[in-house]
Amino acid sequence: MIRQNLVEALSRQVNAELYSAYLYLAMSAWADRQGLKGFANWLHVQYQEETAHGMHLYEFILDRGAAPEFHPIDKPETEWDSPLAVFEHVARHEAHVTDLINGLATLAMKENDHSMYMAVQWYVNEQVEEEANADQIVQKLKLIGDNGGLLLTLDAEMAARVFVDPFAGAAAN
Ligand code: FEO
Repeated sequence: MIRQNLVEALSRQVNAELYSAYLYLAMSAWADRQGLKGFANWLHVQYQEETAHGMHLYEFILDRGAAPEFHPIDKPETEWDSPLAVFEHVARHEAHVTDLINGLATLAMKENDHSMYMAVQWYVNEQVEEEANADQIVQKLKLIGDNGGLLLTLDAEMAARVFVDPFAGAAAN
């Protein structure tokens, strides 16, 4: 049986992942309205990934025989000044999520819950990639500056991203 304070912490993380999904969906809508369909696609895939992150933790709570808690999902921002502003926001947000994940891992360790600790390790590794991806796009956008042609080239590159369920075929942790 999992301790109630861990269920609460995991449920908060489910909420944080679903908020991330909602934020990236709002960014995807913004990009779509700017005519940047590739950026919109990339961010929509990110929305799907975050939903998968949240649902995997939700299923972990159920697998441990506990009841997930449900909290309101905050309203995300919906307007940004530029693609660079969007991805600087993504980078800041992912750094914040990394802090949340590290906090969960520390809590699991403190409570001696090895199963939760192992489950959270997937997210610890994932955050390295999440932060690197966001930082890389920020760097590209800074190099592009005001060059509309190069922005459209990057947009075309981002149109190629497809969603792959990160947990497909994996045994539930
Ligand atoms: Fe669920 Fe972007 O980390």
